[in-house]
Parts: sequence; structure tokens; C-alpha cells
Amino acid sequence: MEFRCQTTRRLHEEHEASFDACARLEQALTARARGGAPEAGDPQWGSLARGLDAQLGAEVLRHFDFEERALFPLLEEGGEGDIASLLIEEHDAIRECSAMLRPLLARSRETVLDAQDWRALTMLGRELAERLVSHAQKEEMALLPALDDLLDDDRDSDLFNEYVLA
Ligand SMILES: [Fe+2]
Ligand SMILES: [Fe+2]
Repeated sequence: MEFRCQTTRRLHEEHEASFDACARLEQALTARARGGAPEAGDPQWGSLARGLDAQLGAEVLRHFDFEERALFPLLEEGGEGDIASLLIEEHDAIRECSAMLRPLLARSRETVLDAQDWRALTMLGRELAERLVSHAQKEEMALLPALDDLLDDDRDSDLFNEYVLA
């Protein structure tokens, strides 16, 4: 889908990056479903875990803050308050999941997780991927088209600068 505003195009690109990260995570967990926790220093797992952690910290959580601070109030003004509340609830669930997953990801790069922790990582990873994909898909269908209608060029460029330069 092509979006008109620079702000919505930027969010769309970040959603695509999240879809990619979630797909890579699910593939890795499926490939390891029988093998269990990776060895400490496993280069493939290390790079996946590091990338996912960076994606969650810098991209996803910053992206959520921006949506809540600057964009959802516009949805509310436009009479779409119910969608905004639902999206906030989903952010909270994803933040919670991410806060539990990230320490496990960090540890999995340094040491071999025991069976219980590896199971927790696997379940949290799958839950996070499922929630994040479904959330971003919803925003692609509802939030971004609504913003493309609501934003004029000046507002769009103010928002874009605020987000990108912040
Ligand atoms: Fe969101
Ligand atoms: Fe988003």
C-alpha cells in the first residue's frame, strides 16, 4: 500500500521492519523446536537475538511512544477514539511481553539457557511476534489511512521532523 504523507510512509517502513524481524524470529524458533537452547556464542542465534533486541528497544518502543503521544490524539479528535484505545491496550501488552523477553534474549547470547528459561523465551517470542504482527497489520489498515486523510502538509512535516530528528 502506498501512503501519501511522509509520517505515514515512515511508520509503514517501520512496520515492515517489524514484520521481517518477527518472521525471522519465528523461523529461528521453529528451526530450534527440537534442538533446544543455542550454545553460548552461537553466531547465528547471537545476531538474531541482538537484532531483535535492538528492534524492540530503539524501533518498536520509540515508535509506540510517538504513536501514543502524537498520533492517537488525532484519531480521537477525528472520532476514532475506540480504535485509539484498542491500539494503546495492544501496545501495553506488547511492552509487557518485550520487557520479559529482552533479558532472556540477552542471557541467551552469553550462556546456555536451561530448559525452563528456553521454554519461556520460546513462548514469549512467539507471543510477541503474533501480537506485534497483528497490531501493525491493524495500524496499516486503520491508523495510517486515517492519518493520510487527517494530516495537511504542514502538520505532516512537523510530525515527521519531530519524530525523525528527536
Ligand atoms: Fe502501534
Ligand atoms: Fe505502528
